[in-house]
Amino acid sequence: MSEGPVIKIDDLHVYFFTRRGIYQALRGVNLTLNKGEVLGLAGESGSGKSTLGLAIMGLLPRNAIIPKGSIILGNGTDLVEKIRGKAPFKKDKLNLRKNELLIRNLNKHLQKIRGKRISMVFQEPMTALNPVLQIGYQIAETVLYHDAERLIRRALAREKVTREDLRNMIKILKNEGERGIYEYALKAGLNGIEEQIFAIWNREDIHEAKKEKMIIDLAKDKLGLFERIGLKLARKGMLKIPLISRLARRALIKEGYRVAKELLSSLGIPQVDSVVKMYPHELSGGMRQRVVIAIALANNPDVVILDEPTSALDVTIQAQILELIRNLRKKTNAAFLFISHDLSVLAEVSDRIAIMYAGKVMEVGRVEQIFEEPLHPYTKMLLDVIPTMEKDTLKPAKGTIPDARYPPPGCPFAPRCPFAKEDCLKFDREIAVTKDHIVSCILYENKK
Ligand SMILES: Nc1ncnc2c1ncn2[C@@H]1O[C@H](COP(=O)(O)OP(=O)(O)OP(=O)(O)O)[C@@H](O)[C@H]1O
Ligand SMILES: [Mg+2]
Repeated sequence: MSEGPVIKIDDLHVYFFTRRGIYQALRGVNLTLNKGEVLGLAGESGSGKSTLGLAIMGLLPRNAIIPKGSIILGNGTDLVEKIRGKAPFKKDKLNLRKNELLIRNLNKHLQKIRGKRISMVFQEPMTALNPVLQIGYQIAETVLYHDAERLIRRALAREKVTREDLRNMIKILKNEGERGIYEYALKAGLNGIEEQIFAIWNREDIHEAKKEKMIIDLAKDKLGLFERIGLKLARKGMLKIPLISRLARRALIKEGYRVAKELLSSLGIPQVDSVVKMYPHELSGGMRQRVVIAIALANNPDVVILDEPTSALDVTIQAQILELIRNLRKKTNAAFLFISHDLSVLAEVSDRIAIMYAGKVMEVGRVEQIFEEPLHPYTKMLLDVIPTMEKDTLKPAKGTIPDARYPPPGCPFAPRCPFAKEDCLKFDREIAVTKDHIVSCILYENKK
């Protein structure tokens, strides 16, 4: 798996303005999300986990403000600065109208890349799905919206492909494996068809003769004359013209259904031919969440944010979704930010875990570091309340998270911490105990 950050968050502050006061949801978050990893994000309710996800995603509500900090993408763009400029935030000079504009602009900008480069899955899959559209249509539309080019390429490839071509490609597959096909497809002007061939070839549930027949059958789908004209014009960038759009759209949606089927079967969903024609209410909760994950992955995003994706599901289904995410992690190059208040869920999927408290990151480390050598007293407290084989009684966590309107000075955990001393009220630093294990606690100040 390749390395390097896809998103680097620096000193990020997010506040919410309400009639009851200013809620300081994020108060200086530093976090890096690397290519191909699953970063678990834990912390009690109200610690700011969802706010962080929404900020990255460009879904902050209008009463939010980003007074300070940056969200830097892998290519170096700072999403916050780009919109807001470098002017520092002054609370007394805050202009709420102007801020609303700012958040709207930031969201708009982020939404342009959302779905393509960053996508998000929420706890309740029903909210992400349109109840009156077929599953296949919803996936097709997502791909069409963000990557029409890919559908056009695929649909046109289908038009030209002959049985002869497909027989040749099967021969290459058998002799040379997948590598030679790209070259052949490129030469024959058929690029786009490879994905479909591989999808069939890599299936484990059918025997080889059947696979060959299915591949040859790909030649059966010829496009109608009008669709062909529409697609060709669309390829020239004329998709925005209504007539062309109408001509091409049908073929593109049809192609999108095919993409949907491939995607769903790659996520281990059986009977995709009928699933794509179903409406959300016809699916079980677990299946719905899988479909939402499929939509999130439809455009090969760099980052997928999952906010409590299994919390509404029962335990067996939850295990299946976690298994799915573990597999995806191996298959895709996307980075996953997996938010959960449940550390035992995170233990199953994460490479690294970040522990949040009162709008700050208290500790970050590899999953085994967090579970075997937890440093922060807050992390230890969270681990203490997980039921295990030895201790089946749940120790309730002592105390509660501070009111986000009046965060305590220094280490926010100090009021609940058994090791707290006076200096904790002034302490606000992150200490790298080892290169990849970082803690924000005064106890480790001289232990580097
Ligand atoms: N739209 C909003 N307006 C005002 N305050 C908000 C808003 N959204 C969140 N907050 C506040 O920001 C703080 C962080 O909330 P957030 O939802 O990010 O926490 P969380 O860690 O996701 O919690 P949970 O585990 O319950 O989902 C809380 O104090 C919350 O009340
Ligand atoms: Mg939340």
